[in-house]
Amino acid sequence: MKEQVISSLKKITNLSECDLDRILEIPKDKNLGDFAFPCFFLAKTMKKNPVQIAQELSNTIDKKNFEKVEAKGAYLNFFLKKANLAKEVLTKVLKEKSKFGSSNLGNGKKIVIDLSAPNIAKPFGIGHLRSTIIGNSIAETAKFIGFKVIKINYLGDWGTQFGKLILGYKKWGNEKELKKNPILHLQELYVRVNKSEEFEEESREEFKKLEEGDKENLKLWKKFRELSLVEFNRIYDILNVKFDITSGESEYNHKMDTVIKMLKEKRLLKESDGAQVVDLDKYNLGVCLLKKSDGATLYATRDITAAIDRYNRFKFDQMIYEVGAEQKLHFKQFFKVLELSGHSWAKECVHVSHGLYLDSDGKKFSTRKGKTVYMSDILDETINLAKKEIEKREKISKTEIDKRAKAIALSAIVYGDLKNYRENDAIFDIDRFISFEGNTGPYILYAYARANSILAKKKAPIKFEIPELDEATKQLVLRLNEFPESVLKAYNLLAPNIIANYVHSLSQQFNEWYHSSQVIGSVQESFRLNVVKSTVQVIENALKLLGIPLIKRM
Ligand code: ARG
Repeated sequence: MKEQVISSLKKITNLSECDLDRILEIPKDKNLGDFAFPCFFLAKTMKKNPVQIAQELSNTIDKKNFEKVEAKGAYLNFFLKKANLAKEVLTKVLKEKSKFGSSNLGNGKKIVIDLSAPNIAKPFGIGHLRSTIIGNSIAETAKFIGFKVIKINYLGDWGTQFGKLILGYKKWGNEKELKKNPILHLQELYVRVNKSEEFEEESREEFKKLEEGDKENLKLWKKFRELSLVEFNRIYDILNVKFDITSGESEYNHKMDTVIKMLKEKRLLKESDGAQVVDLDKYNLGVCLLKKSDGATLYATRDITAAIDRYNRFKFDQMIYEVGAEQKLHFKQFFKVLELSGHSWAKECVHVSHGLYLDSDGKKFSTRKGKTVYMSDILDETINLAKKEIEKREKISKTEIDKRAKAIALSAIVYGDLKNYRENDAIFDIDRFISFEGNTGPYILYAYARANSILAKKKAPIKFEIPELDEATKQLVLRLNEFPESVLKAYNLLAPNIIANYVHSLSQQFNEWYHSSQVIGSVQESFRLNVVKSTVQVIENALKLLGIPLIKRM
């Protein structure tokens, strides 16, 4: 396909395969062929005008692998041989199955990915949801192309706020409330402690005791952590996301001294009003605060310590942090500190950021009418909406409704996020996300279910003849063929939206094709069943990379 175009152009130009791959375009107008080569790129070296070049190339190029090759203006347009195209693509998809689109590009290189990372005793935020969804998709895509991936959930489970929580709990805590709704109860206590300055000193004391390993405080902290994790795990279960390691800031509590010492030895640490800082003014990054005047360490101190520990343990080739854009400076600062202190691998650390979620009025979505938004409520609400949608359509058993509703809700939420380029702010509009029409996850699942229902009526035969392709079939086959390229592009740009948009347009193309092409009972039945089977396979492969579950019926 594209390779054929590249190899024939390579013979008659001085461009490399890599250049050609980059330069070749897919014309929007189908009358202009399947691939177009813009001849501007040769104008300089050939010292001719591009129109003339296109003419000349069209005379010299070997046309035997194409239906035709035509010069049009400054472009050389390639029309693929349709029968070959279908044969090649379908054979490949049906042979490689769940591996279609995968590769060994990563060659076993290691990627550590830091994702999700909610904070203990606080609600699982919408930003944590984005990090979980986007990070998970990047991780799955990297695995698919041959990287070894280690997913780490780095909980926000340490810091002075735990002094406040412990104090609040000792004063007004209630065991029963805590068990019933740990996050709500702890949040109330936190707010109450924060209301008055009189508790500041005591809170600091409690945190200090915790840091020093006081038994009672440690026990409380452990309890808060465990109960919060039960809540978070409920969300991960629904999202079907798993981690290789669940750690947290607390893990580095006793390991930071060595890092502080190392920075001192390298003369990077400076005293400023009793605090220890690394001055990054030269790099326009302000100062990175590592130890407060009261000796307390900070988020950055723990991140530096954690990064060094991870490098020592995994010798990663790359480390990705999927965290909201509001932390950009934090990552720039601590990557710089790592670099300045001689950790050359710091340049392999990347902050892959995401924008905010806004509500439909364009306001920040972390609160709703002044109230905190609970992720578990949103998930439950979405599942209920999905149930209503299903009940409108079909009478089925309760267990079947539950199963489908969960999958549909998840497709709505995950696709609703991943359809956007991650750095852009996105609008969280669950009513739109859940719709079976338009640019939504359920729309894709619906196409997938429709394709499956055809195959449930009649299996695709192993042997089939390739007929002369009509335009709709050709477009669908071309689209199937684009999957491996989308995967690579999504990985290169760390942008799952490329796969999300791809699989949506594949679903659209499939629906269009299905309307114009009768499958069962047509003269092309065997061939068309295999087109359906290939489409099912590619949708499946793509949805797996996005973290969207598959259901055969809607
Ligand atoms: N817990 C942090 C927060 O909610 C995010 C942590 C991200 N990961 C990291 N290594 N800093 O803001």
